[in-house]
Amino acid sequence: MVQNGKPLLEVKNLYTYFFTESGIVQALDGVSFDVHRGEPVGIVGESGCGKSVTAQSILQILPRNGKIIAGEVNFRGYDLLKFNEKQMNHVRGKYISMIFQDPMTSLNPVMRIRDQMVDVISMHRGVDEFEATEIAIKMLEAVGIPEAESRVYNYPHEFSGGMRQRILIARALALRPELLIADEPTTALDVTIQAQVLDIIRNMQQRHNLGMMLITHNLGVVAETTKRVHVFYGGRVVESASTRTVFKHPMHPYTRALLASIPSFLQKKGKLATIPGVVPRLINPPKGCRFHPRCRYATDICKTRPPVVEIDKDHFVACHHYDKLGEWEDEEY
Ligand SMILES: Nc1ncnc2c1ncn2[C@@H]1O[C@H](COP(=O)(O)OP(=O)(O)OP(=O)(O)O)[C@@H](O)[C@H]1O
Ligand code: SF4
Ligand SMILES: [Mg+2]
Repeated sequence: MVQNGKPLLEVKNLYTYFFTESGIVQALDGVSFDVHRGEPVGIVGESGCGKSVTAQSILQILPRNGKIIAGEVNFRGYDLLKFNEKQMNHVRGKYISMIFQDPMTSLNPVMRIRDQMVDVISMHRGVDEFEATEIAIKMLEAVGIPEAESRVYNYPHEFSGGMRQRILIARALALRPELLIADEPTTALDVTIQAQVLDIIRNMQQRHNLGMMLITHNLGVVAETTKRVHVFYGGRVVESASTRTVFKHPMHPYTRALLASIPSFLQKKGKLATIPGVVPRLINPPKGCRFHPRCRYATDICKTRPPVVEIDKDHFVACHHYDKLGEWEDEEY
């Protein structure tokens, strides 16, 4: 979805490092991307490429040893990195909601669901407890919790994993956020339940016209759910484009390798592939293009950082040799 006007979220040149005994982990190394109002965006890339750290940096919920070194996180025109903790609490409660991989870690096991929803709802929506309970029940119904009116008084352990994730989606959306960050929201669930929870997320995103950052390893999910994709590698965004373009005309060697490694995609194309080499360690990352030790197109120039180029309208690629690659159909990863 190409949109005019200012994006809802604009992450600009973000650098986030972790300070560890073995050295400085350069987890985010100049990450830039945006999300428009009402737009579902996919954030993809292998394990350790900085997807979760990006979400944590936006919301300023980094682990203690993590620090944002430079950059901007513009949300509704405000740079969140200039906000104090009180202001950020307001943003986290009211404007940006996040759901995590494991629903149990986000729910308090010794509190009833009602009590875990009502306080935040009444605080952020300015309603009394009675009204907040009504809203909680309505939201639970909307995400498919049966008998929500009585179940709202149950404890988390009285629900299945899939139901707990639905509850968290209900809680996140009860605050009517403008941006939802979902970090691997279905990975911890049974395969049969994953599709149902994704349906709910998709449905809610559309119904509430939410901006959404869907962080996932699963490119199939990205194809079905998002309109635009930002491909991460080694703490940088290497390709950004509409979801259709990323699947039909990927122009970064890493995006192509990633696509060629999806089982469902391979069946269609009749090819099998894995990406050679390993994900880089970010303490001493490869110089220049961080993909160069694994890239079959690498030349000397790849030891310098490739600039991000807009090679077509709203299609951005960071690769020195994008213009020398053949059509994606000819690829032999
Ligand atoms: N607290 C921490 N201390 C040191 N390094 C960290 C810490 N948290 C994350 N990292 C490092 O930051 C990098 C990015 O991690 P991140 O969790 O964002 O990866 P990810 O893309 O979310 O991976 P996954 O798909 O496995 O969730 C990794 O190299 C990781 O080891
Ligand atoms: S810049 Fe070089 S190493 Fe990096 S992806 Fe492009 S061709 Fe490969
Ligand atoms: Mg992660």
